[in-house]
Amino acid sequence: MDVISVIRTKRDRGRLSDEQIDWVIDAYTRGEVADEQMSALAMAVFLNGMDRGEIARWTAAMIDSGERMDFSVLSRPTADKHSTGGVGDKITLPLAPLVAACGAAVPQLSGRGLGHTGGTLDKLESIPGWRANLTNEEMVRTLEDVGAVICAAGSGLAPADKKLYALRDVTATVDCIPLIASSIMSKKIAEGTGSLVLDVKVGSGAFMRELEQARELARTMVGLGADHGLPTVALVTDMNTPLGLTAGNALEVRESVEVLAGGGPADVVELTLALAREMLDAAGLKDADPAKALMDGSAMDTWRRMIAAQGGDPDAVLPTARETHTVTAAESGVLTRLDAMGVGLAAWRLGAGRSRKEDPVQAAAGVQLHAKPGDSVFAGQTLMTLHTDTPERFAYALDALEGAYDIAPAGTGFDARPIVLE
Ligand code: URA
Repeated sequence: MDVISVIRTKRDRGRLSDEQIDWVIDAYTRGEVADEQMSALAMAVFLNGMDRGEIARWTAAMIDSGERMDFSVLSRPTADKHSTGGVGDKITLPLAPLVAACGAAVPQLSGRGLGHTGGTLDKLESIPGWRANLTNEEMVRTLEDVGAVICAAGSGLAPADKKLYALRDVTATVDCIPLIASSIMSKKIAEGTGSLVLDVKVGSGAFMRELEQARELARTMVGLGADHGLPTVALVTDMNTPLGLTAGNALEVRESVEVLAGGGPADVVELTLALAREMLDAAGLKDADPAKALMDGSAMDTWRRMIAAQGGDPDAVLPTARETHTVTAAESGVLTRLDAMGVGLAAWRLGAGRSRKEDPVQAAAGVQLHAKPGDSVFAGQTLMTLHTDTPERFAYALDALEGAYDIAPAGTGFDARPIVLE
């Protein structure tokens, strides 16, 4: 087998054979296929796609590139959630301890942020002492004792995806349904969860801008789950507007703790509960009541134990930014649009996100929202507070917010989109 013929097949809109896929994924993982050759193949896939059979084989080859975890020793059923990523998407933070408090084990392997969407591990690392890297033994022990872990995937899990994702990120080949679906599902299947709930985001702040694309991504991933015996369901959810009132690291941890304390923004609570119900159903815990677990303190108690089990101090004061800047409404009326991409870019530019995977992030940087679409606002009212340790970033962040929101005259009708679309 040679890589040039594999690239040529896809370049010329051909179908990759099982042998070609197995060989190229394995050879790339071993370093026999060079990055520039895999980049060319990824671009050919981006342009010409893969059919269902090719995607299934590509996914299987990525799973086989590394180890598979096994949670069969646990006394609880496992359930996991994956979001395709959005602005202010802190849902994993309240969701994992909530579902654990209701009786499931939640092995939540998460990532760091790249670009305008934040990373769950970056958010949790704003808690003093908290560490993302656990051994497999520590993970299993915490799952049995506490019921939830949120940690980094070990280097042995789908290593082909690790290499390929880093490459896609710098070759404009991320937003491609076959590559996204195989990337996400190879990690989740290798992780060994007993069931999976997908939160497929659609809107200006998501990979998928159009509902039909989001549906196709959701169906592709649910199909891959079925092929591998992993019961998988998907919710398609709105990402035109940021979730909640914060986008940033420590800012989102604070908001998540509010949700666990029985408060927090209505959209975050609604989506957390919708996903929790799906996870609990999938885990066979249909009688569990996640709304009660938010109100009676049991989800908060699990959060505290989960943070402490990973070295974090749940009582520690979270970092605050050295500088803030407010954005005010120029006129009175009703806020009819608040663009997720604009807010996500602003948070990223303030220092909450990174441009290269080795860059550090600022724990306290981000955007705090004081109004959401549908709210009445008056001239001079604070719409957003920008937080950063490096005030020279304010101008750059403000550029991202230029044209990112609309205020219409009072009384203008406002058509709110539900959070869970399908
Ligand atoms: N998240 C992943 O893990 N992979 C992708 O390709 C996109 C988002």
